[in-house]
Amino acid sequence: MKTLLQNCQTPDGIKNILIEDELIAYIGSQTPDHDELLDCKGLVILPGMIDPHVHVRDLEKAYKETWETASKAAIAGGITTIMDMPNNKPATTNLAGLRAKRKAAKKSLGNYKFHLGATENNLEELREILQENPEDVAGIKVFLAGSSSNEVVQNPEKLKAIFKLAKEFDKIVLIHSEMQSVLDKWQKQIPEQSIEFHNIIRNREAAIAGTKLVLNLAEITGAKLYICHVSTREEIELIRKAKRTNKNIFCEVTPHHLVLDETILQKVGNFGKVNPPLRTKEDNAALLEAIKDGTFDCLGTDHAPHSLEEKKQDYSKTPSGFPGLETAIPMTYFLVKENHISLEEYSKLISGNAAKIFGLEKRGKIKIGNFADLVLIDPNKEWKINSKKFHSKAKYSPFEGREVRGKVVMCFVNGKNLLPFRRGDVRHWTDRGVRSDT
Ligand code: DOR
Ligand code: ZN
Ligand code: ZN
Repeated sequence: MKTLLQNCQTPDGIKNILIEDELIAYIGSQTPDHDELLDCKGLVILPGMIDPHVHVRDLEKAYKETWETASKAAIAGGITTIMDMPNNKPATTNLAGLRAKRKAAKKSLGNYKFHLGATENNLEELREILQENPEDVAGIKVFLAGSSSNEVVQNPEKLKAIFKLAKEFDKIVLIHSEMQSVLDKWQKQIPEQSIEFHNIIRNREAAIAGTKLVLNLAEITGAKLYICHVSTREEIELIRKAKRTNKNIFCEVTPHHLVLDETILQKVGNFGKVNPPLRTKEDNAALLEAIKDGTFDCLGTDHAPHSLEEKKQDYSKTPSGFPGLETAIPMTYFLVKENHISLEEYSKLISGNAAKIFGLEKRGKIKIGNFADLVLIDPNKEWKINSKKFHSKAKYSPFEGREVRGKVVMCFVNGKNLLPFRRGDVRHWTDRGVRSDT
């Protein structure tokens, strides 16, 4: 099967792109032989987003999300590969957990990998898994603090041992950098527990202290480090400095820490409860600067679905996190629209860098011989975020009602366009007079 995408706006200019079965077979100005033609005039094409940070849930928490619903949400959002975090039930902290997930993930419509979860006492179990050199394991996740449902690593020696293990097996360590000891201190000081104080209760000091600690450990052990959801100006400054001399340090920005600040909580309440918390406008500005100067490597959604009932509980009971797969590209495409970064830089931020950092071969770039994981975006389409239409089971969002420009209209995974979702394998996009000729 050969599909020709004609007149696509790529980071390198207008091109025709031929997909042959699951691979990209041609990129250029000619019209090679094809079975199917899609006129993509006016559409931007990018490598499908690779999201290193997704909490899929499933199995014991299937009421929150399953592989089917998460992967559908991902594809609707232009995300062709997701990497699953370990703090599900069962957790990916041992072989049994990994096996259960492997089975459940067969329902995924898109590509996926798993991050293993490190605890204070599962190093030998992780070693056993890593010795097999599993191709579907991307990294090792460490939480320095509790958040929703995870085990915490606080002991400094154990933390160091995890970094050493990662180095030994050439796996990257992913860090949730808020430190439990600092959080505990602040929790005691703030008597009024409500969402408006989330950013004080889970104080920025906790994230800054953790980031300092892991930057130092990366230096000492030589392990590759990926700092998840950086939320403060101070952390950015520390990371920017460390990156100058250590090429094994990488970091992630989420759409919510970039675009939202704590004042939104008055409006969205616990729907905006997330860890680390939404910070200040000054932090938003520092994060934007760090995207512009290339300090941030990846955009990660931290898609963390919970049920509506759970999110409607009181502040102290409601779990942290919200869905992010279907809002990530829409909420960040302004970076290109408003000329903060080029289309090429955006392509690396959402896909190219993650492919390199997590070792995904033949993905992350529109290149002959690579898998045809592609997202097509209508860059001028104006629309409103409406969480009722999410494919995720979590139908709420702190971005609810936002006016955005840029809409995902097609999403190819391994050569097949899955949007709009229909029965059968080959889909044709026929919106706005753009037609298939077969
Ligand atoms: O807000 C969050 N939710 N932060 C995390 O670190 C975990 C996540 C979850 O699993 O719900
Ligand atoms: Zn986290
Ligand atoms: Zn997370």
